Amino acid sequence: MAVVQEKPLLCKDFLARPKQLLIDGKFVDAETGNMFETRNPATDEVLCQVQEGGKADIDKAVKAARKAFEHGKWRKITATQRANMMLKLADLVEKNADEFAQLETLDNGKPIKESRYFDIPAVVETFRYYAGWCTKLEGETISNNPDFFTYTLREPIGVVGQIIPWNFPLLMAAWKLGPALACGNTLILKPAEQTPLSALRLGELVLEAGFPEGVVNIVTGFGANSAGEALSNHMDVDKIAFTGEDKTGREIVKASAGNLKRVSLELGGKAPNIVFADADIDAAVKGAIMGIFFNQGQVCCAGSRLFLDKKIHDEFMSKLTERVSKMRQGNGMDESTQIGPQVSREQQERVLKYIGIAKGEGAAVACGGDAPAGDLAKGYFVKPTIFTGVHNDMRIAQEEVFGPVLSVIPFEGVDDVADQANKIAFGLSGAVWTSDVKKAHKLAARIKAGTVWVNTFNMLDVAVPFGGYKMSGYGRELGKHSIDLYTNIKSVWVNLQD
Ligand code: NAI
Ligand code: MG
Repeated sequence: MAVVQEKPLLCKDFLARPKQLLIDGKFVDAETGNMFETRNPATDEVLCQVQEGGKADIDKAVKAARKAFEHGKWRKITATQRANMMLKLADLVEKNADEFAQLETLDNGKPIKESRYFDIPAVVETFRYYAGWCTKLEGETISNNPDFFTYTLREPIGVVGQIIPWNFPLLMAAWKLGPALACGNTLILKPAEQTPLSALRLGELVLEAGFPEGVVNIVTGFGANSAGEALSNHMDVDKIAFTGEDKTGREIVKASAGNLKRVSLELGGKAPNIVFADADIDAAVKGAIMGIFFNQGQVCCAGSRLFLDKKIHDEFMSKLTERVSKMRQGNGMDESTQIGPQVSREQQERVLKYIGIAKGEGAAVACGGDAPAGDLAKGYFVKPTIFTGVHNDMRIAQEEVFGPVLSVIPFEGVDDVADQANKIAFGLSGAVWTSDVKKAHKLAARIKAGTVWVNTFNMLDVAVPFGGYKMSGYGRELGKHSIDLYTNIKSVWVNLQD
């Protein structure tokens, strides 16, 4: 038997250090006097204690961000200097990439190969991409009236609150920080309570990269009746960017009404993944697996509704279940793990509850269908699960499970599948597998979603906009579109009349 070489735990020192809030350029204890624990989802063991920020801490952080925005060095430096800080931050994350990958896997549970080869490189790329935008923000001149010189300025919005989830902890932080900093805003980041660690390590690097005090503040803590809520209803916060559950999104919108702050929302999804009989079936099988089981199904754009052309249903299902039953489930720190645990006991229970609902609705378990026993029982694992015989109007087909649970729905013809695909409250993404180029483009136009993939799934790029239709939210992150989320346009009129 091969001897498994134990990798050194690079994040050991960080785990041993106190986990404080980053406010006004310093790491400080929370005013609440409380701490909360964060656990390893693979083992249920406590990783460490983290300071629990509350309303008073948000007040302090907002004051620091306001001071840095109105009177600090940040507004006086050049765009190139801003870009250099962001590039330095990217370099520092890259230098510590292996430590970040371990930290992300320990705190979130995801397979180490995904942390190492997807999450952390994407974080570095996001900071580099948005560093490039610092020097490319421009206004325009408009010469409609010869008596006036009229131009526009693209200005930062001001103090921005950013509330992020636990599924891609550091990458979600980068998607938020990148454009906000590029545009010259100051910010308060509220990481998810389940996964606060990588954001706090990033905070250390923010200071090392030379960002002035108060530009980036990081307050760990909870959502409702706590730090998250205090941030979203704060009267001196100019904008909230949120990623998470649709229900929470509604709370954020309500909380924003006080000062009518700007809001951008990236909420859930229930993506249709449509396979026609003329598709490359083996490629579509692989795409369906990646589409639903990547990150344990905890992906807002996951392909959780698999629409199969009736003609290929049985062939597809036998290939799919054969592959899925061979997936290696285990501790994310194990290099051979393909599917890890859910992020928390709460999420594990939520997913198992939906599995129970689907069974009660009459869906048939093609594989999985419960939590694994044995060594994995102490962690928050759910077996990769596939249901057949699902109708699009069942709860399992309509509600976001956010776990490794696939609903398979048969269809007959383009109109049938287009109607079913769109009969859903969400609209984040969708996919079509076919060798017919006309059918592909026609369906891409018909699917009501912010992203449509053709013969692929889960493709993302920092330069390509990402966001939702319908209840999946509003605003587009990534690419040049997120610049609109973090800037205001001002028109300046100069009278030239004699
Ligand atoms: P959540 O939306 O409650 O939490 C996300 C973030 O919002 C966390 O930082 C949390 O502290 C904060 N938050 C919660 N309530 C808040 C409030 N009233 N005001 C301000 N901030 C608040 O998501 P949760 O409860 O962790 O997961 C529940 C479900 O949400 C999942 O099963 C999944 O369906 C969905 N979800 C979707 C995500 C996405 O990427 N679209 C990410 C995470 C969860
Ligand atoms: Mg919640």
